[in-house]
Amino acid sequence: MIDEIRRIQAESTRRIDGAATLDELGELQRDLFGKASELGGLKKQLGGLAPEARREAGLAMNEATEALRTALDGRRSILEASARRAQADAERLDLTEVRAGRDAGHLHLVTQTIEELEDVFVGLGFTVAEGPEVEDDWHNFTALNFGQFHPARDMQDTFFVGLGEPKEVVMRTHTSPVQIRVMEGQAPPIYSVMPGRVYRNEATDSTHLAVFHQLECLVVDEGVTFAHLAGTIDRFTKAYFGPGWTSRLRPSYFPFTEPSAEFDIQRPDGTWLELGGCGMVHPNVLANCGIDPEAFSGFAFGFGLDRLAATRHGVTDLRELASTDIRFLEQF
Ligand code: PHE
Repeated sequence: MIDEIRRIQAESTRRIDGAATLDELGELQRDLFGKASELGGLKKQLGGLAPEARREAGLAMNEATEALRTALDGRRSILEASARRAQADAERLDLTEVRAGRDAGHLHLVTQTIEELEDVFVGLGFTVAEGPEVEDDWHNFTALNFGQFHPARDMQDTFFVGLGEPKEVVMRTHTSPVQIRVMEGQAPPIYSVMPGRVYRNEATDSTHLAVFHQLECLVVDEGVTFAHLAGTIDRFTKAYFGPGWTSRLRPSYFPFTEPSAEFDIQRPDGTWLELGGCGMVHPNVLANCGIDPEAFSGFAFGFGLDRLAATRHGVTDLRELASTDIRFLEQF
């Protein structure tokens, strides 16, 4: 019987190693260990053997069973790995693919908007600057004249990062910290725009996103006035939307500008869209950056790019801008 067991073991091992698919292997496993299997048949005969022979045959039977299970497991992991590889190959996307003569992808609407506005401002003689999205308290708040306990700190629902002292590192809540970085790095005259992503810890809805984009504009030079500010805002409104669009300013408050205003733009249907804030750079802010407020003055404004783009393209829910739905994205 032991020879018989060894023969079955050798034959079965060959069949296991030859199994080409997981289905085939499963079938084979049922054949080898099921009630009607050859080994099963032999097992039933064990009882009829003399005690010594039964012991030896039983041992051989256990060895064979063990060896076959190991062979099955080994083969199964090989087949599984190649099935995964085949699936990965079949589902692979060629991201360099060219579709009907044009590139398959294009820039996101918000990125297009940033590039278009950069062009408008570069045309007006501005340079483009960038800053980090993870900021320190100095650049996001303190240098911008937010007092230590100023309630305006709470107006900006801040995401704090678990680094350094408590509340020292933040996801920037606006692009205004880039003003500080530009002024720290360069002497006037300064004519810069600073686009980028900003973060606010607030609930999202059709008109608010927790992660959105702003464009900041900063001018510091001799003799800069509020009229330059209002004129620049109106100029870019018309350049981006068209000659039929206008802008207006309403008195407001920001710690880093004095006087401060909100600015709105008027759609051709006469309705107004609140876009951003602006004002004359506060003397404390200039001084914090080593610029003499007696010699220089400046203006700054900042506004939401997502809203701007949504308005021009008739997107009614800002959350769409964060979606990955190709049917939405392909429209722009
Ligand atoms: N940083 C302000 C905000 O996010 C906007 C602003 C920018 C106001 C520049 C004044 C000057 O609300």
